[in-house]
Amino acid sequence: MTSRRDGLSFGGDYNPEQWPNETHVDDVRLMAQVRVNLVTVGVFSWATLEPVPGTFEFDWLEAVLDRVHEGDIAVDLATGTASPPPWMVTLDPLSLPVDREGRRRWVGGRQAYCPSSPTWRLRSQRLAEQMASRFAQHPALALWHVGNEYGCNTPACYCDACGLEFRKWLIRRYGDIGALNEGWGTNFWSQRYSSFDDIHPPRITPDGTIPNPSQELDFRRFFSDHLLSAYVAERDILKRITPDVPVTTNFMAMSRFNRLDYWRWANEVDVVSNDHYPSSRPELADAELALCADVTRGLSRGAPWILMETAPSAVNWRSINRPRPAGQLRRHMVQHLGRGADAIMFFQWRASRAGAEKFHSAMLPHAGTDTRVFREVSELGQLLDDAGEISGSRVVAQAAMIWDWESWWSQEFGFLPTSELSYFRNAMDLHRTFTDQQITLDIIDSGTSFDAYPLVVVPSLCLMDVDVAQRLDAYVRGGGTLVVTYWSGVCDEHDRVWLGGYPGALRDTLGIWVEEFAPLERGQTVALSDGGTASVWSEFLHLRGAESRVEFTGGELDGVAAVARHEHGAGVAWYVATRLDPISLDRHLSDVLTDARLRPLLSCERGLEVTVRRGEHADYALVVNHGDAVREAHFAGFDLVTGRELRTPWSLAGGDVAVVRLEQRVDGREVDGPRQPDS
Ligand code: GAL
Repeated sequence: MTSRRDGLSFGGDYNPEQWPNETHVDDVRLMAQVRVNLVTVGVFSWATLEPVPGTFEFDWLEAVLDRVHEGDIAVDLATGTASPPPWMVTLDPLSLPVDREGRRRWVGGRQAYCPSSPTWRLRSQRLAEQMASRFAQHPALALWHVGNEYGCNTPACYCDACGLEFRKWLIRRYGDIGALNEGWGTNFWSQRYSSFDDIHPPRITPDGTIPNPSQELDFRRFFSDHLLSAYVAERDILKRITPDVPVTTNFMAMSRFNRLDYWRWANEVDVVSNDHYPSSRPELADAELALCADVTRGLSRGAPWILMETAPSAVNWRSINRPRPAGQLRRHMVQHLGRGADAIMFFQWRASRAGAEKFHSAMLPHAGTDTRVFREVSELGQLLDDAGEISGSRVVAQAAMIWDWESWWSQEFGFLPTSELSYFRNAMDLHRTFTDQQITLDIIDSGTSFDAYPLVVVPSLCLMDVDVAQRLDAYVRGGGTLVVTYWSGVCDEHDRVWLGGYPGALRDTLGIWVEEFAPLERGQTVALSDGGTASVWSEFLHLRGAESRVEFTGGELDGVAAVARHEHGAGVAWYVATRLDPISLDRHLSDVLTDARLRPLLSCERGLEVTVRRGEHADYALVVNHGDAVREAHFAGFDLVTGRELRTPWSLAGGDVAVVRLEQRVDGREVDGPRQPDS
């Protein structure tokens, strides 16, 4: 897709400025040896490319590009603007970002810029322009890479210049101050504004109080848009000079970052690329990856995407940094492929000798090539070569799950019934259960039409506007199957409560109403009538049309429904009012699948993760055995990894993977990705 050759792309961040020229020669030789065909160059090179303001030194970079090109390696070329050089602060101290407490964040780390700073805007755009002009014709140039993980280190800036931009954004959103007061509920705590001029970013407030949550929500929206405008400014320069070269910026759709609304960003890139580092909790790592990879494919509207960064082994930013267990790299990378990645890239090619990341793993470790990591990288390069024919194919999904960064944010402003609500965990519980049941979900935004899917899953969509509520209702009436969990449809798009019993936006669709929330103590579990257990959350729920499928037992909630099923029009709406233990969740979601008339696309023993990609000439199954036991699969094909003909049944050893060209097409609908938002 990006290497200008057929097949899958493979490589990583390459930071040659950290090494002498002799090493560069070695780099290209070793890259060729492990089949690297794409490298990202120049992400943090600004200080080397423009050592003093206005003086550009590009010859060294050109020599690097020439060399990798000779090695038949394509380049994802960064504009170099991810982190400004130290001279920027000398030139303009106000170019530094300001935190919530009003402190400037200084140089010495990275990403120390305020996106409102005219100095930073001007200088970064000028560098992008110079880079594009200089390298427009370079034969290695395959892709532009703008910035790096926007918002990662500076998720917000609270300076006066950002305050001014925030006010402009609010004027565009609300038009008049009355509408803002209404949306933010400012009659509370004497917060009513008479003019936009009186509004500031949500800076630190007196002890024991929190800023208005609706203001927090709008500030998050604003800042995501504001950073996006910085990206777009660079992108437009690149498009003017090199209209045919695709442009990306690496997202961070993962559990430990949520500050950008990537639904809005995804519309502005030519190809979606994502960074994903494995979860620190080994028991969650596979499920967390599967969800994040599906989110990335959702952002890409079903098209193949790039895994732009992952770690070949350990990271260095946790308190204890364990290496990847043997074999995990291969399993994880096949999971990414199975969920739509056409490129596997690492941070980084060669382990740094100095600096803050010197103990982060790399494809080429400090100890050199006679290492486990280099061998695993080399085997992976071979696997990607062998599986090259899957590139360009698209994942076949059977159902959809709504994903919403704004609802996730709204859980973070505090002062809720419990601090134990976790948007990501709740979504992952559901996604993981469907993965175990070998059902693949598309991740969609709430503006997408639901009609293409027999089943729509809605975890903790707290913020819900009238339009989404009405479309979900119409979807069920029209024959769809819907599953909604607790903490959905409670507030509107301004974070104001829907009145008349929770969840106000969906009570009629779900055939229930909730009188009072009853969060559980940390670690507390409540028994369920089917022998299962519930944790985190419960509520005093009344049935109004729905039937109870399982009840809480004992205590104040005795007999109250914990899961309800509502036949509504031609469809069915399910409500899950608590965090179910995995076995109960599995059982109830199996019943949901029956309502939706959904079965796995291929017949395989449970315990195998299976996804299907549809190519022009064949369908492919990507199969991962995460466990230790041998598992059976009941379909025929050809394993591109081992070169084995597979006759049904065949078995896959514990920890092993297969990429199977299927003998027959699966009986799944043709998926072109979720439709664009209706509006
Ligand atoms: C990413 C970043 C890389 C590197 C990596 C280390 O957040 O984009 O530059 O710092 O983390 O894990």
